Amino acid sequence: MNNSFIIAGVMGWPVAHSRSPLIHNHWIHQFNLSGAYGFFPVQPNNLESAIRGLQALGLAGCNITIPHKVNAMTYVDWVHPLAKRIGAINTIVVQPDGALHGFNNDGFGYIQSLLDAQPNWRANTGPTVVIGAGGAARAIVVSLLDAGATDIRVINRTHDKAEEFAQEFGAAVSSVKWNAREDALADAALLVNTTSQGMHGEPALNLSLSNLPKSALVSDAVYIPLETPFLKEARLRGNPTVNGLGMLLHQARPAFQAWFGVMPEVDQALYEKIARTI
Ligand code: ATR
Repeated sequence: MNNSFIIAGVMGWPVAHSRSPLIHNHWIHQFNLSGAYGFFPVQPNNLESAIRGLQALGLAGCNITIPHKVNAMTYVDWVHPLAKRIGAINTIVVQPDGALHGFNNDGFGYIQSLLDAQPNWRANTGPTVVIGAGGAARAIVVSLLDAGATDIRVINRTHDKAEEFAQEFGAAVSSVKWNAREDALADAALLVNTTSQGMHGEPALNLSLSNLPKSALVSDAVYIPLETPFLKEARLRGNPTVNGLGMLLHQARPAFQAWFGVMPEVDQALYEKIARTI
């Protein structure tokens, strides 16, 4: 294999909206590396052959995005235990022997985005309230547990899914009914929206913050727009807030390190470059 020019990319369908090429090519340029990161539009029925083709094409690996994050797990040779718990991968790294290893760095990205806002943030400062119980929620809940969270309340429109979370992730995770969601905020230290509500084109998250302590950190996995109505309401009442862009930027770092051999940073220049596209 010719390793002098390193190629990676993002597999998704559709994928043209992805910011990952801008992020990784920024770092390739910053470190003066020889390589490129591209868009790989892969339809679901081509996912297995596309993943198997990574090694044949001599690529370093790829990111996996919507709608492939769950299915891609079945086509790699090894899945990191953290990604197994999350139930999805967002990164594939082609090993020197050609084996395909799957990772999930979304939770890492989320925790790092909180630390950017509050360098002394701790997971066990108080209860965490998680709105939503889909794929993004799984990555965030697993990473909060690993960071030491002891009281995570999962609240989902479809309560059965929140209840499944509580069963699966053990005593530190409980479920709260959707119609009791505002009561669950009363002593929260961290509140996170993992649903698509508030995303451009979607209605705002239906959640009043009036019971939430003003000290609670409020975060949103959504990054289009950078400030969702939910984050705006939190900011206007005095809560510290974290938007979803930090999670996106930070999840890219360990993947870049695995492919290109350098652990990059999320600096102001990168943040602003990507924010300008939103
Ligand atoms: P992702 O991988 O981005 O997390 P997902 O797995 O499809 O996407 O999960 C979407 C989440 O947003 C779910 O928790 C979903 O709630 P349901 O399980 O009840 O579907 C939540 N969601 C979507 N639309 C919503 C709405 N209008 N109000 C509240 N929650 C909503």
